[in-house]
Amino acid sequence: MKISVIGAGNVGGLAAMRIAQDGLVEVCLIDIAKGLPCGKALDIEDSRALLKFDSPVLGTDDLVGLGGSDIVVITAGFPRKPGMTREDLLNKNAQVIKELCLGVKKYAPETILIIVTNPLDLMTRLALKITGFKANRVMGMGISLDAARFSNLIAEELNIFPQSVNAIVIGSHGEGMMPLVRLSTVGDAPLGKLIDAKKAEELINKTTGRGLEIVSLLGSGSAYFAPSAAISSLVKAIARDEKHIIGVSAYLNGEYGVKDVCIGVPCRLGADGIEQIIELDLDQEEKDTFVKSALRLQEQFSSIQ
Ligand code: NAI
Ligand code: 2OP
Repeated sequence: MKISVIGAGNVGGLAAMRIAQDGLVEVCLIDIAKGLPCGKALDIEDSRALLKFDSPVLGTDDLVGLGGSDIVVITAGFPRKPGMTREDLLNKNAQVIKELCLGVKKYAPETILIIVTNPLDLMTRLALKITGFKANRVMGMGISLDAARFSNLIAEELNIFPQSVNAIVIGSHGEGMMPLVRLSTVGDAPLGKLIDAKKAEELINKTTGRGLEIVSLLGSGSAYFAPSAAISSLVKAIARDEKHIIGVSAYLNGEYGVKDVCIGVPCRLGADGIEQIIELDLDQEEKDTFVKSALRLQEQFSSIQ
């Protein structure tokens, strides 16, 4: 197995480390900044004797390095800078995704592609368009991170292990995020039996605001410890054909009542990528919110230059 990570910044560098440490064979780290991927690759390899793993990690600034990849993860892009509008950022990262997806199509035409670059759902839809890959082979990592954050906050509130929480989040990785208290469980109990409506709303707000909370505290850049962990769990599910059900941004073609949009929903992940899209039983209000969020994404996607 060969797994390539494009973008050797905070998220990509740590994702490459976690993937290598999981023992998933060869890892290739690629970045436009010349020395960065090579330096990080050497540093990761130097930890092998200490952490007891043997995956080789190569660094390069050339997309030719993608050759033979079974999975490609794209984390390359720009953060929002002062004075830059959301639209500026959208168009700037769209240019990066376009260029990189042409490279993926050329050098790794059989790969499964995981997009991480923001705005996540729009970049995933763009990657699907540019590569022309079948929809099962292109997905975005976003709501599994949001679900992990929701789980963590619920666990803190109830003073229990985060692993015993099954928090459900659907929608877009951004303003249209939908943490679903009604469908989340703790052990065998519905979450709604353990917290009241006021607490539920507080936890939902904390979850939707978590990314921004971390950005404000860091001062520069955004989260990368939990995002890289979320990437490695997607990579593992595919590389090991685990058939795990994990939320990803997937292309919907009628599911949930929407068409021609990439948005976060639970999916069964295995060797073929997205092997099944799971349709949750949403109530009318949840359905309406989801459709609204999907329509907003379609509108934004049509504005990409
Ligand atoms: P970073 O700034 O640390 O790293 C980005 C890297 O991309 C840089 O090393 C840069 O040189 C590289 N890059 C830019 N253009 C490139 C190109 N054309 N080819 C190859 N490499 C290129 O940023 P960080 O923190 O790693 O975040 C990366 C992206 O991931 C951002 O868009 C961020 O918003 C997004 N993100 C998404 C999350 C999600 O849940 N989907 C979670 C966290 C971050
Ligand atoms: C996050 O949610 C920035 O998408 C990134 O932390």
